[in-house]
Amino acid sequence: MSRFQTRVAIVTGAGHGIGAAIASALAAEGAQVVVADIDEASASRVAAGIRERGGSALSHSVNVADRSQVEGTVEECLRTFGTVDILVNNAGITRAAMIQKMTEEEWEQVLAVNLTGVFYFTQAAGRRMIEKAGRSGAAVTNGKIVNVSSVAGLRGTIGQINYAASKAGVVSVTMSAAREWGRYGINVNCVAFGLVETDMTRTIRTDPKFREQYLQQIALRRIATPEDVVPAVLFLASSESDYVTGQVLSVCGGVDIHT
Ligand SMILES: NC(=O)c1ccc[n+]([C@@H]2O[C@H](COP(=O)([O-])OP(=O)(O)OC[C@H]3O[C@@H](n4cnc5c(N)ncnc54)[C@H](O)[C@@H]3O)[C@@H](O)[C@H]2O)c1
Repeated sequence: MSRFQTRVAIVTGAGHGIGAAIASALAAEGAQVVVADIDEASASRVAAGIRERGGSALSHSVNVADRSQVEGTVEECLRTFGTVDILVNNAGITRAAMIQKMTEEEWEQVLAVNLTGVFYFTQAAGRRMIEKAGRSGAAVTNGKIVNVSSVAGLRGTIGQINYAASKAGVVSVTMSAAREWGRYGINVNCVAFGLVETDMTRTIRTDPKFREQYLQQIALRRIATPEDVVPAVLFLASSESDYVTGQVLSVCGGVDIHT
């Protein structure tokens, strides 16, 4: 299968977990991928793995909360692959604390990475997508931006007000960018994950009490693997979703079912 043949993608936070799975899956279907992560060694390992399997990938060290580094990543992508068609804003962190105890630093770190980082990358990559449409004389660019949110951003959560607020912000960034850039043929959508087996959720998953509490909230009664959630991201990055924009797709095993 080669849904993404000739497409160039940047995936942030692709050194571990869900981002690594997204980058690998995009490459397996033909995309040329920039594996972008603050953890240079991990990004480099993921990119090398993709190349060993016959795919095309470049690793790039970036702190998504640093605007000039973000610009540098997009520039590197253009230098190496000539364009950027797909952006997956996946990088994210948690700094857990109850509201009464949360420090300013914990609040700001999470907002900087999870929300401001999404804005920086959206702006930097989106500008190139728009310029490309202008240069080619095409009315539209067919760019795809997929943002990673969380059910915590839709429902709130306990002990992570910073994280929930950042992920609610990601939903809003998605909707506003979709409204502004629909005219250029750029689709901007969002996935809201529930609980996925990665380093980020090790404490929750391995504590029997927390684990049971979470499982009771999941209609499908199991925690997702990264491979469970990747297909939704690929759908929103592909031409199969050309008439979908500004939407939030919950990929959470039914944690978030509206009545
Ligand atoms: N795991 C879950 O249950 C879950 C649930 C909902 C949403 N999410 C979201 O999915 C995304 C991926 O999470 P994950 O579970 O794979 O986490 P993870 O901790 O396994 O991976 C996150 C990646 O982001 C990178 N990163 C962290 N800060 C960065 C920065 N400043 N700049 C660039 N890269 C940075 C890390 O190095 C790491 O490779 C995150 O946005 C997370 O909030 C995860």
